[in-house]
Amino acid sequence: MHLLGIDVGTGGSRAVLISTAGKIVASATVEHKPFVSIHTGWAEQDPRDWWRASAEAIRSAITKAGIPPEDIKAVGLSGQMHGAVLLDADDEVLRPAIIWCDQRSADQCRNLTTNVGASRLIELTCNPALTGFTLPKLLWVRDDEPETWRRVRSVLLPKDFVRFRLTGDKATDVADASGTLLLNVAARRWSNEMLAAAELNQNILPRVYESPEITGSVSQKAADETGLKAGTPVIAGAGDQAAGAVGLGIVQPGMVSATIGTSGVVFAATNTPALDPKGRVHTFCHAIPERWHVMGVTQGAGLSLRWFRDQFGVLSSVPDGDPYDSLTAEAAGVPPGADGLLWAPYLMGERTPHLDPDARAMLAGLTASHTRAHVVRAMLEGVAFSLKDSFEILKELNVPCDTIRLGGGGARSELWRQIQADVYDHEVETVEAEEGAAYGVAILAGVAAGAWPTVDAACDQVVTTRSRVKPDPDAAKLFHRQYRKYVALYPALRSILNSEEPHATRKLL
Ligand code: XUL
Repeated sequence: MHLLGIDVGTGGSRAVLISTAGKIVASATVEHKPFVSIHTGWAEQDPRDWWRASAEAIRSAITKAGIPPEDIKAVGLSGQMHGAVLLDADDEVLRPAIIWCDQRSADQCRNLTTNVGASRLIELTCNPALTGFTLPKLLWVRDDEPETWRRVRSVLLPKDFVRFRLTGDKATDVADASGTLLLNVAARRWSNEMLAAAELNQNILPRVYESPEITGSVSQKAADETGLKAGTPVIAGAGDQAAGAVGLGIVQPGMVSATIGTSGVVFAATNTPALDPKGRVHTFCHAIPERWHVMGVTQGAGLSLRWFRDQFGVLSSVPDGDPYDSLTAEAAGVPPGADGLLWAPYLMGERTPHLDPDARAMLAGLTASHTRAHVVRAMLEGVAFSLKDSFEILKELNVPCDTIRLGGGGARSELWRQIQADVYDHEVETVEAEEGAAYGVAILAGVAAGAWPTVDAACDQVVTTRSRVKPDPDAAKLFHRQYRKYVALYPALRSILNSEEPHATRKLL
């Protein structure tokens, strides 16, 4: 028996085929077109490009594995969260999807917060109104593009658009739906009160399932496009963070992950919804029934390095090598603390802890002695500091943090692993199959197909620790001092760049 996990990310779609021993049999990634940002803070992608990339990635993974398609017993879907895909009466895409990091909906967040009330919003949805979430994006379209809005008949999250093309079903899961601001996260169903407050009809929303539930099966048309067998069951799956957490075995309280993708996320599993009255971290359903999670999100984590690579024309130092490896190898030659250089990674505004779409990035303390390697090292450290902000909030909320597991690009680089251990001043672990969200939903698909009785049992069996990194005491001491300076950057920068009123959501909380 084999299981297929698909992750519809921001940069690309990834398909991963695993065995019931948890071994990766084959994987393939197909890049998306980069997101389009025609105005500062805007970010849009064409959902049809996600389907193209997903279908190609599935076909390529099946071909590489060389297994008959009927051997794939279930498919799991994961993807970037929060994006708004709008379909018309013929189920055609009405406009490019406004994706997770888009910041245009500050006015809509302010209005929602005023109309519903800041604390009532947190009671109803466990979260404040943030520009990242789906509902404010929908309200922006209604306010600013009424002609388009008039034609909207269905709203889907990114991976659920791929599901729609794969099976013809309009469905989502509780973990991904948590990021819409329309789910009653505590009760794990759409919130009638939020729908009423936003004057939205529930019939534009897909049906919500628990993550390991089957929502439909692969259609003949999709089978022709992907190489899958028609009739293969497709499970609800989960947004990329909950799915990635399953892949890292973050299923029980005490387990926490720090994952650096385009964004950076600190994720802790909990048995009840853990609320932050200040709304700085998100409280969402986990991909496991009757479990929740709390997570802090920094917007510009891996994005910092990608932006640097793209804007400054960084190429690999070896033929066909990865420019990121060259950059981190350079940075490894610079001592911890980057000789005083600091990076605040707010390239796309910030969520945790500042809840500020207008936050801006900053490289502070440059001198003529600093080199490109210092800048890269400062970026790696700055991203870790911004994740430490989330760890500090978890501490404040008494969310236990016994084991920290690393995921994404931050787990793959030896230097970034050590920087994270030193900055968090806590041992960090990596796992054997660091395949992120696609791996997590392949596990969930296996639970649906009967390979394992529960998600916990599956993780116990297949997620194994590969390495542990202890903090270096001297570096940890230095980073405690650097972190205090880092924390002072944001307010200083705000006062320079933005003398206007602070973001309304923050003020009202
Ligand atoms: C989570 C979030 C990102 C996106 C993109 O809240 O916004 O992780 O899902 O990966």
